[in-house]
Amino acid sequence: MSELKRVPDGIDTSVPSSARVYDYLLGGTDNSALDRMVAEKLLSVAPDARTVARATRAFLARAVRYVASQGIRQYVDLGAGLPTSPSVHEIARESVPDARVVYVDYDPLVKIRNDATFAADEGVITLRRDVRDPEAILGDPDLRAVVDFGEPVAVLLLGVLHFVSDDEGAHDIVAAWRGCMAPGSHVIISNLTADSDPEALARLAAATAGSPAESTIRSHDELARFFDGFTLVVPGLVPVQEWRPSPEESAIGAKVVVEGGVGVLS
Ligand SMILES: C[S@@+](CC[C@H](N)C(=O)[O-])C[C@H]1O[C@@H](n2cnc3c(N)ncnc32)[C@H](O)[C@@H]1O
Repeated sequence: MSELKRVPDGIDTSVPSSARVYDYLLGGTDNSALDRMVAEKLLSVAPDARTVARATRAFLARAVRYVASQGIRQYVDLGAGLPTSPSVHEIARESVPDARVVYVDYDPLVKIRNDATFAADEGVITLRRDVRDPEAILGDPDLRAVVDFGEPVAVLLLGVLHFVSDDEGAHDIVAAWRGCMAPGSHVIISNLTADSDPEALARLAAATAGSPAESTIRSHDELARFFDGFTLVVPGLVPVQEWRPSPEESAIGAKVVVEGGVGVLS
């Protein structure tokens, strides 16, 4: 079934993976035939999905550049995904050359690929952990060796909170991190929003039900709650292509919308 170039031990390609489906949407090659089938099914009901994935990644780059411009030297990227250039540490190091980054993902392939790709990058590590267990991540000695919570940190939750339902404690995750963050710390969050084309979303929900891409779609107001305790940086929580865009990004008119924002802790 798999057409991954090299399938490392421990990687199950008989079930699709959201990291590999997203890799395919972004034009990557670290995906199997099954992942591509899921992605194509998604594209058949939400043809904008590829454009939106790229816009979300471009938002990540602009938001990390902004946060780095505020002098933030340490980053925790939760639900980091497979290596995609430029990576968070490459972007942050444009202005903070010694920026340290902890990538976290529960997909074993993310750890394998990151460890190989970033082996020479000092101060960059990847943890195979579940974002639904923030205490385990916060208590991980490898994370504590890289991140000093006495100093401001940036926590990234990009395209991952819609995989966590309210019952699974999506808001508690953000609260647990906020509780450890020093003043001046930032969160960067992006998420699918229910304030998109309702028909496209209904088709998306039906197509992904029961798969790893099954998502909790939240309204703008529900998403804004993730920033409780933080002050939203201008322009606030907006469609990702409208967050401090370059001229070509502001022209994206996708029907399925991902909203994103940056919050700062005073
Ligand atoms: C849509 S991708 C987003 C990747 C990256 N953050 C970005 O914006 O380009 C979602 C990622 O979240 C990861 N993920 C989903 N649920 C997770 C969980 N409970 N714990 C850790 N990672 C998770 C998936 O494995 C996947 O790599």
